[in-house]
Amino acid sequence: NNIQGFIRGIPKAELHMHIEGCIEPDMMFKLAERNGIQLRWDSPEELRAAYEFNDLQSFLTLYFEGCKVLVREQDFYDVTYDYLAKAHEENVVRAELFIGPQSFTENGTPLVELMDGVLGAIRDAEKAFGISAGVIISTHRHRSEADALEMLDAIMRWQDRILGIGMGGAEIPNPPSKFVNYFRTCRERGFRTCIHAGEEGPADYVRQAVELLKVDRIDHGNSCLSDPELVAELVEKQIALTVCPVSNLKLNVVSSLEDHPLRRLLDAGLQVTVNSDDPPYFGAYVNENLLQCQAALNLSVDEIVTLARNSIVGSFLPSQEVTKLT
Ligand code: HPA
Ligand code: ZN
Repeated sequence: NNIQGFIRGIPKAELHMHIEGCIEPDMMFKLAERNGIQLRWDSPEELRAAYEFNDLQSFLTLYFEGCKVLVREQDFYDVTYDYLAKAHEENVVRAELFIGPQSFTENGTPLVELMDGVLGAIRDAEKAFGISAGVIISTHRHRSEADALEMLDAIMRWQDRILGIGMGGAEIPNPPSKFVNYFRTCRERGFRTCIHAGEEGPADYVRQAVELLKVDRIDHGNSCLSDPELVAELVEKQIALTVCPVSNLKLNVVSSLEDHPLRRLLDAGLQVTVNSDDPPYFGAYVNENLLQCQAALNLSVDEIVTLARNSIVGSFLPSQEVTKLT
């Protein structure tokens, strides 16, 4: 009906999507064959049927296994380009994509292959579709701070082409406080920063991210609601939350979308955005996330407009570009 067409048509940004979490099962098999890798599923259908998760860790185990098919520059190019083509169809005008290089360099892939593939696909998709896109380097919180600092040094040669630095992986027991030096170094080198926090972790992890790491954006952030003073601080500092509702549902962060905190986050005045996280794994790209939330929470047209506007305002675009798009 009307609101569904409105959701599909409205220009939006996607700020929380992992390239290595966006390998469609057909692509997984194509890349495995190209690289001589034996998968433990017999068909793309069988692989898709394996996308059943209990929690973040059960997802991460499969996600890191899937990373093994991304080896050469062309592999990174193909996955990134396919996502941007799909995003363009969904009227995503701005896409800020995470990639976690540690998953690939540990298997012997040179960083230059990863960066050339991702940046090449972004350049070509920008030309082909008029979409605006960039990459955020996401380091792993289950590894050490020294490992993160080593990756930071390695990516410096691409500094001018990187939007910012993020962090993902197993949230508990790896609080933001583990990475104070790393995030300070990122900021000193001029990078914007964000971190996954408050997905499975408590409000205190979100507080640490804001107060100790001084990040510009929080990825997820759901659990902040249990700390009203923290909510006030997030509102005051205009820190965007990149919420991923269907991901939350599939990883049992919420028991149903009807129970999802999205509306409560909006009502608190937070700069909430809706994102897909790892769309093939969770069965929903960004428009499907918005459609399912609209149906479950009875979101109004005004609320959809707010979410789309927040996504543009919350992006790492320069302010004059934001003004043009809002
Ligand atoms: N959380 C933590 N790490 C991740 C996620 C997530 O939702 N998606 C991909 N890596
Ligand atoms: Zn994520």
